[in-house]
Amino acid sequence: MKGLITTVLALGTALAFPAPRGTSSLSSLALQKVLSDASPILGAYAKSSLSTASWMHHYPDSTKLVHMNLPGVHDAQTWNYSQATQDALKHVTDLDGNTVYPPEIYRCQEKSIIDMLNAGIRVFDVRYAYDPTNSTLVFWHSEALMSETATVEDVLFGFYRWLDEQPSETLMLSFQYEGGTTINAKNDAATQMELFRTLTTPAAKKYFLQTKDQFGTLGEARGKITLLKRFDLDQLPASYGDALPGIHFSPALWTDDGVDIALTYNSAKNLTAYIEDYYQPNSPIGMGAAYNIELKLNATTQHLVKASGMYPDSLFWSFASSNYDVDSPPETPRIMALGNGTQLTPKGGVNQQLVPFLKGMKGKRVGIVMFDFFDTPGDLVQALLDL
Ligand SMILES: *[C@@H]1O[C@H](CO)[C@@H](O)[C@H](O)[C@H]1NC(C)=O
Ligand SMILES: *[C@@H]1O[C@H](CO)[C@@H](O)[C@H](O)[C@H]1NC(C)=O
Ligand SMILES: *[C@@H]1O[C@H](CO)[C@@H](O)[C@H](O)[C@H]1NC(C)=O
Ligand SMILES: *[C@@H]1O[C@H](CO)[C@@H](O)[C@H](O)[C@H]1NC(C)=O
Ligand SMILES: *[C@@H]1O[C@H](CO)[C@@H](O)[C@H](O)[C@H]1NC(C)=O
Repeated sequence: MKGLITTVLALGTALAFPAPRGTSSLSSLALQKVLSDASPILGAYAKSSLSTASWMHHYPDSTKLVHMNLPGVHDAQTWNYSQATQDALKHVTDLDGNTVYPPEIYRCQEKSIIDMLNAGIRVFDVRYAYDPTNSTLVFWHSEALMSETATVEDVLFGFYRWLDEQPSETLMLSFQYEGGTTINAKNDAATQMELFRTLTTPAAKKYFLQTKDQFGTLGEARGKITLLKRFDLDQLPASYGDALPGIHFSPALWTDDGVDIALTYNSAKNLTAYIEDYYQPNSPIGMGAAYNIELKLNATTQHLVKASGMYPDSLFWSFASSNYDVDSPPETPRIMALGNGTQLTPKGGVNQQLVPFLKGMKGKRVGIVMFDFFDTPGDLVQALLDL
């Protein structure tokens, strides 16, 4: 009898709020709105049937994340930062009086985040801060505001939605508060509190792995996000840091411009990550693009060789991205990654030269490799996935 009553009640509930035929439910309309708000950073949401959108289904659940070769993108949020975008945001940027340099200084990608996901990218580096009115956390690259309307929280919903559609995959999201961001915004208690809130909403608790300071297996991580914390919550009581899951890559331990950083993220278990983040070659001014590209390529390939031969159970995280903006003309992220298209850089940039290198690493673990302009040349990401 009780069962019957429950059934009748359930039926009553279902009948009381029928989804109108031919229209969407309010929850799906709400999701559409959030994804639309996110689109200046996320791009237009699209489900993909590309094989790269679900490449992880080929790997067994028992695969350790630190054993995988994971393509990543540096400064993912910059993909649409053209002159038109900079001009369109000028009235907001002007609010805090920042000097903003030409867009090519900041731009590191040109395909949307949704395109990146569908192309197989699984590790995302993003930079956040308060918007110039201190109202919401949005995306920046140094002084350059990427969008005033797409909040960090909106964009996270895009990742959540994508994971629902690609449950075989796992993602890592690296959040960094960058010094040199907007003049007024500070990495203060209010900012840290808002970041903490954003990363502990009910949705975040569902999609971010709730483990701390260790990497597990692919099986545990499918459909979920590992948070890579390139920030401290040092302006808040210690309980906040304790309550936030993810892996803590404290900026205090991350050597600036380091070619070979050993960062212990879990001292109790002696877990160390090996990182190459040589983003600005330390060459004298005026050596030119080809030289700086070679210097950067050397740092990256040396680190990938180390990844293939040492500490097999530790995380290796290498950045193939760089710039040398102090040169005149500057070597922008694009020129470092792709060359400048002239005889000045006959071998191209870091990306073109990495393809034959990666093809020579068959069967090896190289770890996470972060690219600028990841989609050029077209076989770069595939070369990593094919190892
Ligand atoms: C990319 O930027 C252009 C110029 O600002 C803008 O018109 C376009 O809507 C942006 N794309 C997205 C997906 O927001
Ligand atoms: C935003 O917060 C910063 C740091 O507290 C402060 O310096 C700045 O004046 C604030 N900006 C606005 C528009 O309130
Ligand atoms: C910690 O791990 C490193 C290798 O990553 C090893 O060289 C070192 O001896 C270990 N230290 C302790 C105290 O176990
Ligand atoms: C890069 O490495 C190669 C091979 O070790 C070396 O010959 C070359 O001088 C290095 N280039 C730079 C710019 O340091
Ligand atoms: C390439 O570099 C040369 C020498 O600095 C410069 O004259 C040329 O404008 C650059 N071309 C591009 C497309 O950046």
